[in-house]
Amino acid sequence: MSKLNIVILAAGKGTRMHSNKPKVLHEVGGKPILAHVIDCAKALNPQKIIVVYGYGGEIVREAFAHEDIVWVNQAEQLGTGHAVQQAVPYLDADANTLILLGDVPLVDAEACISLIEQANNKLAILSFNKADPTGYGRIIRAATGNVATIVEHKDARISQQAIKEVNTGIMAMPNAHLTKWLAQLTNNNAQGEYYLTDIVELAVQQGIAVVAEVTADEWSVTGINSKIDLAQIERVYQSRTAQKLLQQGVTLKDPARLDVRGTLICGRDVEIDVNCLFEGNVTLGDNVKIAANCVIKNAVIQAGTHIAPFTHIDDTQIGENSRIGPYARLRPGTTLAADTHIGNFVELKNTQVDIGSKINHLSYVGDTTVGKNVNIGAGTITCNYDGANKFRTVIEDNAFIGSDSQLIAPVTIGKGATIAAGSTITKDAPAEQLTFCRAKEQKSITGWKRPIKIKK
Ligand code: UD1
Ligand code: MG
Repeated sequence: MSKLNIVILAAGKGTRMHSNKPKVLHEVGGKPILAHVIDCAKALNPQKIIVVYGYGGEIVREAFAHEDIVWVNQAEQLGTGHAVQQAVPYLDADANTLILLGDVPLVDAEACISLIEQANNKLAILSFNKADPTGYGRIIRAATGNVATIVEHKDARISQQAIKEVNTGIMAMPNAHLTKWLAQLTNNNAQGEYYLTDIVELAVQQGIAVVAEVTADEWSVTGINSKIDLAQIERVYQSRTAQKLLQQGVTLKDPARLDVRGTLICGRDVEIDVNCLFEGNVTLGDNVKIAANCVIKNAVIQAGTHIAPFTHIDDTQIGENSRIGPYARLRPGTTLAADTHIGNFVELKNTQVDIGSKINHLSYVGDTTVGKNVNIGAGTITCNYDGANKFRTVIEDNAFIGSDSQLIAPVTIGKGATIAAGSTITKDAPAEQLTFCRAKEQKSITGWKRPIKIKK
């Protein structure tokens, strides 16, 4: 294979997004539009990826600081040809170039490969047939079937405007030719722009074949110009993600009511009910069931675990055969071993729970180490924060915490200890004993009256 350079055009202003955020940073499937294009580019193993960005685009550069990219500033947007001209100093003389558009997130690597394969001695263009081709450059084919020229909509004669085959903007060619053609572009056209598409005529004049490959997948070449486009592409992206999961054997109660903003990896016989949102990297083991209305972010959930409705999980690992929710909230740094039960209105943060332990009702457990087979009663709170510092609670194996207890950290509850309901525990509780800390006696006051509201 010849060397490959990829130039991504991303200098357009994106006026119709009506947003202060650069267009290519708006997200599809939880990932910036431009990140989708860069990922496609990387999959093609190029020697170099060059992104042409525009005025005010420093934020774009910063968003991709971790990527190996050559950034080229096109201070004034004088057209697609002018944009590619800015990249010329960085092109490898002996390579071919693939041009991609920074606002086309569903770009298809297979279609690109097909263009690249022809780019050694040809100008290869990706086209598609559009029912309403208004605004697009029309592909004008010669009798041979090769492309004779591309005429932009505003420059097209009425007869040319009737042509439905349009330019996607994605094309590939040898750099030796590209650099020469770019130097010959003029802006003598209806928009006063340097059109990249004018290289077609230059190629034809020099006897270089120009071929157009027609794609049937319109979404894979659709650019985003407005929030309407963004919302449409988001739905297409989500429906494609759902189809892939179904093909792998995942049961989706309704593929139209699933959102994946990141990567979702599923084992066998996974079931996902309606209205679930997966963010970041989520892995679900075999036989995992996710009930309706769960939000799950950066989590590993192992085989056989069931998540009941309305559960929120963030940065958490859950072992096998556990039962979580409904209405549980698992916050970052939480690790649950196998066979754990976390019930309704339980919030866990930075807490490690060992095998077989249960926290079933209305509790806050933060910065805590919970041993094996511990039972934490309803309404238990670990008081981990003194207003300035956080402290840890340790609850050892087989401990039993009575309902409505407060464990004031730092504190350790020993092995097999029992804490009586309603206790406020400020000192370590010894193993195997009952510890309680309540008001000494239960009193009743006769004749006591409830306060009444004072009238102002
Ligand atoms: C261009 C093509 C047209 C094609 C259409 C597909 C030309 C002259 N026309 O149209 O044949 O049907 O794309 O969508 O190439 N850009 C820059 N700098 C510029 C101008 C544009 O980086 O100075 C970038 C934009 O950010 C965008 C891409 O190039 O990603 C296409 O620009 P856009 O203005 O949307 O395309 P058109 O010129 O309308
Ligand atoms: Mg334009």
